[in-house]
Amino acid sequence: MNLVKANKENIRHAAEIIKNGGLVAFPTETVYGLGADGLNPIAVAKIFEAKKRPAFNPLILHIADKDWLQKYSATRNKKIDRLIYKFWPGPLTLVLPKTGIVPGIVTSGNPTVALRMPDHPVALQLIEESGTPIAAPSANKFGHLSPTEAAHVAKYLGDRVDMILDGGKSSVGVESTIIQFHDDEFYLLRPGGLSKEEIENEIGEIKIGITDSEKPNAPGQLPSHYSPQTPLKFFNKKYLDENKKIGLLCFKENKSPFPYLKVKILSPDSDLREAAANLFSFLHELEKENLDLILVESVEEKGLGRAIMDRLRKASNKNQ
Ligand code: TXA
Ligand code: MG
Repeated sequence: MNLVKANKENIRHAAEIIKNGGLVAFPTETVYGLGADGLNPIAVAKIFEAKKRPAFNPLILHIADKDWLQKYSATRNKKIDRLIYKFWPGPLTLVLPKTGIVPGIVTSGNPTVALRMPDHPVALQLIEESGTPIAAPSANKFGHLSPTEAAHVAKYLGDRVDMILDGGKSSVGVESTIIQFHDDEFYLLRPGGLSKEEIENEIGEIKIGITDSEKPNAPGQLPSHYSPQTPLKFFNKKYLDENKKIGLLCFKENKSPFPYLKVKILSPDSDLREAAANLFSFLHELEKENLDLILVESVEEKGLGRAIMDRLRKASNKNQ
């Protein structure tokens, strides 16, 4: 395990790890985060693997400067500006429509991205030196309490991260408040380190969205969520109809002679991490083809395979 004090030299080293696609646990004012390069889908896949999350959950992109926001969301208005001016850096996460450079694995295929500028010198320096937004959930294993000290991270994830930066106790100690801007309204998705009242003092009334932060993708629970436009089913020979436009999403290789209109291969090397990293962007590509049906191959339900299958099942359920 590599638990080190968060001094300048170690932060620089940690930034190298991030740039090279590794995982670094780092302090923020809310809780410790488990960080990876938010623009590198394979690195982000490692986060899910380390947390042992049974399903993908969209992640927060942490930025080092307010000016970075426009790279990851093109949506701005007076109220958003007010929130950023008043509460960033700080325990407020904004969910906004994403730009094209944010990978699908960060947002779990949602058209929106969660963004936050943390109020912690170590976090800010790490992001700045990495030169990339850092995707980070709380640095706990799925179902465990969020960590507010480096030792908490070491206990549960010590063998799964390349480095843990010890920056002392998190001052806020609960996760950030998450609000989503959608159709000219703000929705509270998760209460957290910044009170609803403080937010409403700045921008007026906000609506209550879902509070169950473990189920952000449950259909119908969010004002917007990822919904495949094309029917999607798990592969079965009975669906193969040459009069239909059918696309295939397979794991390792396509062995069938059927004339699919488009075939996407998640990982020619059968690497579940690579498959997870490609999943959402490939589904989007297939959707763009105006197909009648997308057939998907099951993957083995181990490691990230569980999260992949969870997401595929949800996508196929929508069409039944
Ligand atoms: O304080 C915090 O927010 C900490 C520190 C590390 O920044 N991070 C944190 O991340 O709590 P996490 O992954 O444990 O919780 C973030 C929650 C997700 O569970 C999800 O509900 C929500 O943010 N979220 C992320 N992206 C979203 C999106 N595009 N739409 C809706 N909810 C989203
Ligand atoms: Mg969490």
